[in-house]
This record gives sequence, C-alpha cells and structure tokens, in this order.
Amino acid sequence: MNSLRNELKELIEQKGTKLIDAWIGPEDIKEQILAVLHSGRHLLLEGPVGSGKTLIAKELASRLPDMKVRDCGFNCLPDSPECPQCKTAQKDAPIITIPGSKRFVRVQGSPELTAEDLIGDIDPVVAFKFGPFDPRAFKPGKIIKANRKILFIDEINRLSERLQNTLLQVLQEHVITIGNFDVEFDIDTILIATMNPAEYTGVERISEALKDRLERVKITYPTAEEELEIVQRYGVKTDKEIPLKLAQEIVEIIQRTRTDKDIENAASVRATLSTWNLSQSFTTLRKDSTVSVDDIRKAARVALRGRVALAPESPYFEHPVEYIHSLVDSVLNNN
Ligand SMILES: Nc1ncnc2c1ncn2[C@@H]1O[C@H](COP(=O)(O)OP(=O)(O)OP(=O)(O)O)[C@@H](O)[C@H]1O
Ligand SMILES: [Mg+2]
Ligand SMILES: [Zn+2]
Repeated sequence: MNSLRNELKELIEQKGTKLIDAWIGPEDIKEQILAVLHSGRHLLLEGPVGSGKTLIAKELASRLPDMKVRDCGFNCLPDSPECPQCKTAQKDAPIITIPGSKRFVRVQGSPELTAEDLIGDIDPVVAFKFGPFDPRAFKPGKIIKANRKILFIDEINRLSERLQNTLLQVLQEHVITIGNFDVEFDIDTILIATMNPAEYTGVERISEALKDRLERVKITYPTAEEELEIVQRYGVKTDKEIPLKLAQEIVEIIQRTRTDKDIENAASVRATLSTWNLSQSFTTLRKDSTVSVDDIRKAARVALRGRVALAPESPYFEHPVEYIHSLVDSVLNNN
C-alpha cells in the first residue's frame, strides 16, 4: 500500500525543490519545508499574512497523483475496506477517482471550531437503529475526510486547547473518540499547519505537547527582486504595458509598509498584486495603452487604504489617508 507519506517522499526525491517553484523564495527555505515532509513529519509554516503559506500547501497537493478510493467517507483503498463504515454498512461503496489537487482538506482554525467539525458527529437516535458508523448516523469530520490527503489547518494557534489535544491524539495514537465511541483507525495524513509569527499574535497559543510534534519552518515576505517576479508571474496580464521602472516602484511602495515604524499592519503580497492589477484598469479608463505614474499612484492609494493600519503611537494614527498619500508620493516623486 502506498501511503500519503510515501507518495510525498517519492515526489520530493524525484522533483526536489522544483516541486514548490510556484512559491518564489529562498532555496534553503524550500529545502527545509521539503525535508520535513520527506521525513514524514508534520509541518508548521510560520509566516505573516499573504506570504504564500496556502499557496505552498495547495501546490504540494496538486502534485500528488490521482487516487482511487472507496466512496465511504474515510477514503478507503479499493481493496482494503478497513474503516468502520466499510466494515458495516458500506460494504459495496462505489470506487471513485480523486485528482491530486483535491487531496487537500482545509480547516480554518478558530476558537469556535468543535470536535464534531474536526472528527465527526454521530446522531445517537439513528445510531441506535443502524449502528454508530452507518452513513445515516455518522457524519465524518475534517480529519477523517483528510485520510490520504493533506490536512491543512490555518491558524492552528486559534484552536481551543481541547481541540489541540484531540488533534494530538489523532496524530499520535491514531485513535478517534467520537461521543462515547472510541474507534481505532489509522488516519494516513500529513498536517500542514500555519500560524502568524509570534511577534504579531502576542502569546503563542500552541500547547507544548502539540508543538513538540510539529516541525516549524519560518517564511517571510519576499525581497524586492522576488516580489517583482511574483507580480510579473501572477499579476493579471492585459494589453497594457507596465514599464519596468514603475513595476519596481509598486514593489517599493508595498515593501516600505513592512519596515515603516508608523505601521502596525503592513501590506502583504496581495496588496502588490492588487496595485499591479488596479493600475492597468486605471490605464484602461484613460483609454491609454501604457501605465503611467499617476495610474500607479491611484492604484496604490486604493490598495493600501483598506490594508494598512497605523500604530497608535504614530502621529498619523488619526489620519491614515494622509499617511498613505505621503508614502505613495514619496516613492513616486523620488525616483
Ligand atoms: N513568495 C511567494 N511566491 C509566490 N506567490 C506569492 C508569494 N507570497 C505571496 N504570494 C501570492 O500572494 C497571494 C497570497 O498568498 P497565500 O494566500 O498563499 O498567502 P497566505 O500566507 O496563505 O496568507 P494568509 O495568512 O492570509 O492565509 C497569492 O496570490 C500568492 O500567489
Ligand atoms: Mg492562507
Ligand atoms: Zn471505508
């Protein structure tokens, strides 16, 4: 049987760091990420908002081979119906093919997330009639759906302590407890979890026990050269031309927000892409074919307005719009 771990291991051996070339960043960071997965460990990606964490996890899933599984809610392999459903009610579950890109289950970490969301839920009345794992009684949660898939938990530090322990139990002992039922079922998954850097979130809310089972790789925002490559690769492509100097200025404006002491919430790569895209729309509205300094100015103002938050101690705290205008102008007028 080829487990997800082995499939990933083989892919990493074949492709090396090219596997995550979609993420533009330092080679040594890519190596760290792939080494963790190659050794079959769970990964914690620590990085600021919009730094490509989701992109990395999705890209990895999309490279996985298609898989044939039984349509039983646990994704059993066709010739090993080993889950509680296959063993009881779903003896003849149909075989379906799941493409690599769908071998990805996403969970948004939040204090409101419940054990039922994560593990599953059993309706006691129906269970009494048909048994607890009859599909009519049992609704599989995200972890079970992630069998033979990548389990992606965004902002894992926001899960309640109780749920972190539940997760731990599954990752460590492969035992699932649902209500009063303990099921031993070996979940074949690799966890890719994310969190924002501790500097931003304040206290780190990952239990010591869970931390000890995750390998942490820290990613940061791209350098100016990398960010230019990102917009050139992922920004919209229209018939409008953005002169190189202006493209560099877009990047410079956004990068400023990440070092400026006046700013509490910096602008992410999404803001760069947004400025790139909007500037071309402003050009279209002017019925021109080449993006101008003024188009960039207008685009950056719009893109930054809703994203940048000023620090309470900044003299601009009460005047964020003025601040944004002066930041944009200082880059555009100086170059
Ligand atoms: N280093 C990078 N290489 C390529 N694309 C990037 C990079 N950083 C950010 N992006 C782009 O920025 C956008 C946001 O990326 P993504 O959603 O993966 O970020 P994230 O870290 O998951 O953000 P969040 O913390 O908000 O969940 C995507 O369009 C992605 O292509
Ligand atoms: Mg994300
Ligand atoms: Zn099954």
